[in-house]
Amino acid sequence: MNQGPEQPTRRLDFPATRRNREPIRAVLQRWLPTRCDVLEIASGSGQHAVFFAAGMPGVRWQPTDPDPRHVESCDAWRADVPTEGRMLAARALDVHEADWDGALDGARFDALYCANMIHIAPWSATEALFAGAAAVLRPDGRLLLYGPFHIGGAPTAPSNADFDADLRARDPRWGVRELEAVEAVAAGQGFRLIEREAMPANNQMLLFGAVKPEG
Ligand SMILES: C[S@@+](CC[C@H](N)C(=O)[O-])C[C@H]1O[C@@H](n2cnc3c(N)ncnc32)[C@H](O)[C@@H]1O
Repeated sequence: MNQGPEQPTRRLDFPATRRNREPIRAVLQRWLPTRCDVLEIASGSGQHAVFFAAGMPGVRWQPTDPDPRHVESCDAWRADVPTEGRMLAARALDVHEADWDGALDGARFDALYCANMIHIAPWSATEALFAGAAAVLRPDGRLLLYGPFHIGGAPTAPSNADFDADLRARDPRWGVRELEAVEAVAAGQGFRLIEREAMPANNQMLLFGAVKPEG
């Protein structure tokens, strides 16, 4: 039977994601429990999801994104790269949705991973991210956040100041976030910053965990 012309690949290729996946995975291998269910918010192309799921035998990785082209790309990578079932089918999820359980069928996770989203979204997305994390993480769950941050009221590098200006020109609601402001939102949802690691290209990896009750 004639199959018709070959379909164009639905896999998207984000060059920055290809570049940063190895240094990020090295941190994930230290910060994630050996066996864990991970919820990824804002998966984009799905290249992180497939790379981490393929290379980390103890994880089960749930990608999500609100953009249907990104959900499709995640699933195309999943179809093409063996992960021994560790990468799940992508789900459509916008952090602003009031009820994440609807999108996730009530699943609970040991960790939430989110890269390069909070500066390309309104500030409300940061607030919604931590509120959602508080709802879907198991007790002792952790939240790993990757991207550029201003620290102590200043960019960590001139290139981040330029990036911030570029973001704000594209959408005044966007911009590189202040680490301390993110920590304040986290605290409001019961999380505290446990560790921070400087990453290549003037990015940061942040590890948040649940605030433990005193005594
Ligand atoms: C720069 S891409 C980062 C993709 C991927 N995490 C990476 O690092 O390659 C930003 C992503 O954030 C997603 N995004 C934007 N607003 C969002 C929201 N409100 N909730 C969840 N994801 C959102 C976009 O659809 C896009 O996939």
